[in-house]
Amino acid sequence: MEAYLDYNATTPLDPRVLEEMRPYLEGRYGNASSFHRKGQESRHAVELARERVAARLGVEPGDILFTSGGTEADNLAVRGTVMARLLQRRHLAVSAVEHQAVLHTAAHLEKRGCRVSYVPVDSQGIVRLDELTKAVSEETAVVSLMHANNETGAIQPVGEAARIAHAKGALLHVDAVQSFGKLPVDPEAIGADFVAVSAHKICGPKGAGALYIRKGVKLESLLHGGHQEKNIRPGTENVAGIVGLGKAAELLGEPEREEERTRVLRLRERLEEGIRKAVPDVRLNGPVSGRARNTLNLAFPGLDGETLLMNLDFKNIYVSTGSACTAGSVEPSHVLLAMGLSEKLARAAIRFSLGRFTTEEEIEYALREIPPIIERLRKAATEDKK
Ligand SMILES: Cc1ncc(COP(=O)(O)O)c(C=O)c1O
Repeated sequence: MEAYLDYNATTPLDPRVLEEMRPYLEGRYGNASSFHRKGQESRHAVELARERVAARLGVEPGDILFTSGGTEADNLAVRGTVMARLLQRRHLAVSAVEHQAVLHTAAHLEKRGCRVSYVPVDSQGIVRLDELTKAVSEETAVVSLMHANNETGAIQPVGEAARIAHAKGALLHVDAVQSFGKLPVDPEAIGADFVAVSAHKICGPKGAGALYIRKGVKLESLLHGGHQEKNIRPGTENVAGIVGLGKAAELLGEPEREEERTRVLRLRERLEEGIRKAVPDVRLNGPVSGRARNTLNLAFPGLDGETLLMNLDFKNIYVSTGSACTAGSVEPSHVLLAMGLSEKLARAAIRFSLGRFTTEEEIEYALREIPPIIERLRKAATEDKK
């Protein structure tokens, strides 16, 4: 038995996505820029995928640019905007709980002379709008705020952020990598200038993503080369990956997805209740409501998350800690630290994330295995202290 409870890290490929991609990994290998029929076959596939992604976001196909994933889409929106506005504006504001794709891009720009505001969050992990308002000025080129947090699932007030940014002439980038497929993502309703999505978080392939760019918004390319993707993102298109992203996006519109979201919520609630019952002092990190339904971030006081993760791994239960490995040492999650958790408690956290193929059996299996592991580790921890 195994339980894959790490959907926020990546998801299994939906078999229908694989089916749609397969011809583009086999016989349909034409370059989408070639004028002959073999090339045009690939071009049509890319444009169909663009229509499907656009339809899911409620925007026009021409507003969608394909990238190599969420990281590149985030880099392009943030760095591309700052570089395009460098003569007028040299400041950017990002929340303290962004993904590294945004945080490290901001740090890179900071080293090259830009000013960055890392906007704090409250104890639930929600960005402080009063602090965002203070940070944004006529000098701000772009504000970057994620829609749902990858570690806690906390849903951010992106619509309010758009109003705050626009009031000062700044643009808003929304990293929707974790919300796409879990919450409605409507760039126009949010008022976003950019929205990043990634295929491998929605049962699509790794290495494919897209950036919505509002019409008329200028940004500088990160790469230089051919004329692909409107001269903004050169490089021969990853046709199979793009086809997979398109199919995965299309599947998000199926009526069954609504049932799936309810089913995932029930399973997550069952997991949460079961763990709470067995481990009463467990602490929920993130908001009780107002979070992505599939995500459960729990701190187990007195335990080390990495050790717990490895012990769960022995039982084929796959979860995450928010820790990052930096220069050989494991750093506690920047998200949990920003929420005010002590380093010790942040190190005691585990993220469970569920999705399309999570079964009741997996949850019951996890609930059988987790309590004795925790009891054993806690016992060992107290013995160590003696
Ligand atoms: C919120 C968020 N943004 C960006 C990314 C990066 O996406 P990708 O893995 O497609 O580069 C991730 C992936 O974990 C994420 O969770």
